[in-house]
Amino acid sequence: MPITEQETAVIDSAWVRAQFPSLSQTVNGQPAVFLDGPGGTQVPQRVIDAIASYLRNNNANTCGAYATSRNTDATIAAARAAMADFMGCDADEVAFGPNMTTLTFAMSRAIGRELSTGDEIVLTHLDHDANVSPWRALEERGVTIRMVEIHEEDCTLDMEDLASKITARTRLVAVGYASNAVGTINDVKEIVRLAHLQGAMAYIDAVHYAPHGAIDVRALDCDFLVCSTYKFFGPHMGVLYGKREHLQRLQPYKVRANTNAIPNRWEWGTLNHECIAGISACVEYLADLGRHASPSVGTRRAALLAAFGAIHNHEQALLRMLISGLLAIPGLKLYGIAEVRQFDRRCPTVAVRIKGHSPLELATKLGERGFFTWDGNYYALNLTERLDVEKDGGFLRIGLAHYNTAEEVESLLSALRSIV
Ligand SMILES: Cc1ncc(COP(=O)(O)O)c(C=O)c1O
Repeated sequence: MPITEQETAVIDSAWVRAQFPSLSQTVNGQPAVFLDGPGGTQVPQRVIDAIASYLRNNNANTCGAYATSRNTDATIAAARAAMADFMGCDADEVAFGPNMTTLTFAMSRAIGRELSTGDEIVLTHLDHDANVSPWRALEERGVTIRMVEIHEEDCTLDMEDLASKITARTRLVAVGYASNAVGTINDVKEIVRLAHLQGAMAYIDAVHYAPHGAIDVRALDCDFLVCSTYKFFGPHMGVLYGKREHLQRLQPYKVRANTNAIPNRWEWGTLNHECIAGISACVEYLADLGRHASPSVGTRRAALLAAFGAIHNHEQALLRMLISGLLAIPGLKLYGIAEVRQFDRRCPTVAVRIKGHSPLELATKLGERGFFTWDGNYYALNLTERLDVEKDGGFLRIGLAHYNTAEEVESLLSALRSIV
């Protein structure tokens, strides 16, 4: 088989890092190392510029008969087109909101209007609570929740259990594309297929996956997919994809004056226009990264696919270094896939515990040395409870992004070795 340009595409780290002004900060005289991407990534200069430029030049509400308002309408339309390229859908299937959690609560209220006693929703122990609690809220309407088990040894979903829990009573399967705690990438395409076989809809939380891999909602055939732009180098906003037929059929709770046209009927009140301007800029940044890695790409969508090819290659190389270094630390336990041959099934997000050190202690000591990591449950509460680490402070999470370097991974490992 010929090797494609995408398979060999590499990240030009110097070019990438020059785009992100925050990466040059220091802490206590040490370079800041951002390993907190799963909680929120850094933004390139062009995102900052787009937000400031909107506020300086176009600050207005929508649908007015004057220049700045028309420019605001155009800003929103451009961001919708950018996110359509990002997710592989049409622009009228893209709705903006404050964050994924708010969009998911709104969607659960709307979907809940069609559900009643006897209907079932399938959720998983691997998911962030934002893809659990909004659906659990429908228990008030008599809906039954079925939780899918995990394989504890590598924190992957138990697909047999999942298949057995999706039945003719299932109306919705809500599942994460990737775990924000342990990095597992789920076989979303197969899960959507199993849901559709029983006539259920599939709701995909792609918040954690979005900075690491290309999304193609048509290939997945999912009914809904949500992500948050602040996790992939953009501003603090959420984005929802919905199949056109669902966005038209379902009834949102909304004010009368808001149009019934899609996607606007799924957007409530005045949106954060300056951040929406930033969304176009973050998608353009990723497309430029793709053009930089594979100069022959044509469309923006092709450039985004090239970007994610290069991101994947870079992150996988760093992940191999990180995990082999971590596993050599005495007393360290890694949660999630540790087998190199299985690395295509995980993101470079690593959860560990080290005997004799709480995750908070490790994160604090690393933080003093300039390494930004997370401790706790990161709202993946079902997982920390299921693995019985919730009462002991959860995990230490190290999250790599494409702007991290091999030198940063090496220095993190030596800092951890010296702490323990
Ligand atoms: C996997 C996952 N899903 C959902 C969320 C919630 O996203 P938001 O903050 O946009 O509501 C997060 C945030 O950390 C997440 O990591």
